[in-house]
Amino acid sequence: MLAALRADRTEILDLTETNPTRVGIAYPPAFLAPLADPGSLAYAPTPRGLAGAREAVAIDYIRHGLEVDADRIFLTASTSEAYSLLFKLLCDPGDEVLVPRPSYPLFEHLTTLDAVRAVPYALEYHGVWSLDVDSLRDAITPRTRAILVVSPNNPTGSMLKARELEAIARLCSSHDLALIGDEVFADYLFEEADPARVSVLAQDQVLTFALGGLSKSAGLPQLKLGWMVMKGPAARCAEAAERLDVICDTYLSVATPVQRAAAMLLEQGAIVRQRIQARIDGNRRALRRALTQAPGCSLLHLEAGWSAVVRVPAIHGEEALVLDLLAQDRVLVTPGYFYDFPREAYLVVSLLPDPDVFAAGIDRMLARAQAALSSL
Ligand SMILES: Cc1ncc(COP(=O)(O)O)c(C=O)c1O
Repeated sequence: MLAALRADRTEILDLTETNPTRVGIAYPPAFLAPLADPGSLAYAPTPRGLAGAREAVAIDYIRHGLEVDADRIFLTASTSEAYSLLFKLLCDPGDEVLVPRPSYPLFEHLTTLDAVRAVPYALEYHGVWSLDVDSLRDAITPRTRAILVVSPNNPTGSMLKARELEAIARLCSSHDLALIGDEVFADYLFEEADPARVSVLAQDQVLTFALGGLSKSAGLPQLKLGWMVMKGPAARCAEAAERLDVICDTYLSVATPVQRAAAMLLEQGAIVRQRIQARIDGNRRALRRALTQAPGCSLLHLEAGWSAVVRVPAIHGEEALVLDLLAQDRVLVTPGYFYDFPREAYLVVSLLPDPDVFAAGIDRMLARAQAALSSL
């Protein structure tokens, strides 16, 4: 239906848009000028990436109160590529990695493409989100190689807490598992972000990789620059780094211009970041206001990130509601089942769209969800 509406050029209020370059965020005019540095004409590849770029990433971590060693940073073309490199490093075909549920649907594809199995563990909602440590422990098998944490998680916006990290580190130590922390949304916090939130890098007991990238931190997904920061016991890191060097050296996928421009892009990225934060703050306020007029619908607790989850009456089901919204209201939202929510009915909306589009889309979405209620 969506393809047909788009082919007809029907105007759709797209509340699934998470591409920051398509929502009218203003970028500084000379933002990309450093990409034209003539120094990029020289090609001097190194598996981990150019030292200057890795140092710039290490400096950027200071904003988060984290001291990281530039020598333990590996540049990648994206977070998705970082996952693939780590699965090659840590897993044999048929091995398993534990992934949160609900979370980002791409994990299924990323693991399958590397012949690895994604095994879910539960995030539980009880007014706030928390990680179900029992379900994590129960999911471990002799084939498990890594625990994957997404913090802030997409789409729940929930963050890893210190006590959860302790429990995970204990499980990783006792089962010899690596810890992968996807922290791509770590720059975008709301005032509800729990002071007990931590990065996976807040411990060094287990072999750990924290993932980040320009795609979210500077709103530049098209430049293809991500990174992984390795931390953990020295011997484990040294052995993993040697093997990761071979993997990275096989692809050398990060372009020279973006590496040479990394320091400037990270610095100037602050401007874009502030604009994105202002956008998501404004849209979240608008959503909350609209929800005060929509009994039966509520916003799930949100600490961070670019998405919001709205609980709606589970009368005709998510699928029917989402299709009605598209067919009758010309509003596009994502059903919760897409992110593997264990029960219905949830709608996931991006907080990035243009504020007018967002407000109009939310009004129609809540009116439709309410209409189901009054049809009872
Ligand atoms: C949780 C999470 N990780 C990673 C990515 C992908 O990031 P990248 O563009 O760096 O591959 C996304 C994209 O939306 C995401 O939501």
